[in-house]
Amino acid sequence: MSEGEQEEHDHFSVVYNLIMAAWGSQAVRAIAALSVAEHLDSGPLSAQDIAQRELSDPDMTHRVMRAGVALGLLTYDADRGTFSPTPLLEVLHENSPTSLKYYAQAAIGPAFWLPAVLLPETVAAGSNHTVQALGSNVFEYLGKNPAEAQMFSAAMAELSAPVIREAASVIAVGTARTVLDVGGAHGAFVSELVQRNPQLAGSVLELPHVATTVEDQARQRGLEARITGIAGDFFDAVPAADIYLLKHVLHDWDDASCRSILSNIRSSMRPGARLFVVEMLVTGKGASLGAALMDMAMLFATTGQERDISQFNTLLTASGLRLTQSVPIRSPYYVMEAEAL
Ligand SMILES: C[S@@+](CC[C@H](N)C(=O)[O-])C[C@H]1O[C@@H](n2cnc3c(N)ncnc32)[C@H](O)[C@@H]1O
Repeated sequence: MSEGEQEEHDHFSVVYNLIMAAWGSQAVRAIAALSVAEHLDSGPLSAQDIAQRELSDPDMTHRVMRAGVALGLLTYDADRGTFSPTPLLEVLHENSPTSLKYYAQAAIGPAFWLPAVLLPETVAAGSNHTVQALGSNVFEYLGKNPAEAQMFSAAMAELSAPVIREAASVIAVGTARTVLDVGGAHGAFVSELVQRNPQLAGSVLELPHVATTVEDQARQRGLEARITGIAGDFFDAVPAADIYLLKHVLHDWDDASCRSILSNIRSSMRPGARLFVVEMLVTGKGASLGAALMDMAMLFATTGQERDISQFNTLLTASGLRLTQSVPIRSPYYVMEAEAL
């Protein structure tokens, strides 16, 4: 092969692998759904063993696990016919502190995969096609599909865990007594702050199908006396608090909707109250891979987008709030603090 042909071949391979990654990610999702990582805790197993435990088809289970070998998650002992985990498989284990088991299933489950297929049509039309793909917007769809909604909240908790730890460590709660997580899913963020600050009582404002899970989750952490789930709609009203948290919420919505959420927070703010917004930030240099790909999900599944600091500044000011500081945590996340204007 000439140097030119080799280069062409390399370019072809890079782009081919980018395309095939979509199918590979579904294999990762299937491996997570089959709980392969947990089954292999007891030592190497054949696909048949796993199929027996999961009541799945043995041949197809084998083929998915073979793809797992090609993807670097598993190794295969052809003599024994058994699979073993590589260190990467640990990330799909539900007990791992860095688990993405539920994120693997939710991020490319029907709620996101079906609208994703319509990305070219979305871009052509200038608006998302979630109604065509799901019959409603993504949050209404999750409200009607409890198993997927449960998976989505668990996925958000996994993705958020390291971000929450870092964000909580840069939030100085001062004399605050109450903290409210607006759109806070199961309440992982509020739990972290309440655990670190014994004087704080926490609550989570969530859609009714999610709010009911907040107190169960608090009970599991031994925080049931200090955390409440509030069923509501952040477009209608937001209860009062000393500290408001808003993590990974504004990126789901267009500017007008963000102003409505922020104005409702502003209206209920007590004197001295502060808002902490945690989002991926697009910087002057452009979007990191993480922010750029999350922005694609916002494009095909929501009306939102990943924003830069000046866009957040404009949204906050238009809602009667002032950005007082912006602290980088793990890239590309920032904790932005705001107070009433
Ligand atoms: C992307 S998730 C972020 C969850 C959580 N803050 C986190 O970072 O892990 C957005 C959350 O907003 C909630 N949500 C969507 N629409 C809402 C509404 N109108 N009122 C209250 N919560 C809403 C969803 O149920 C979902 O849990």
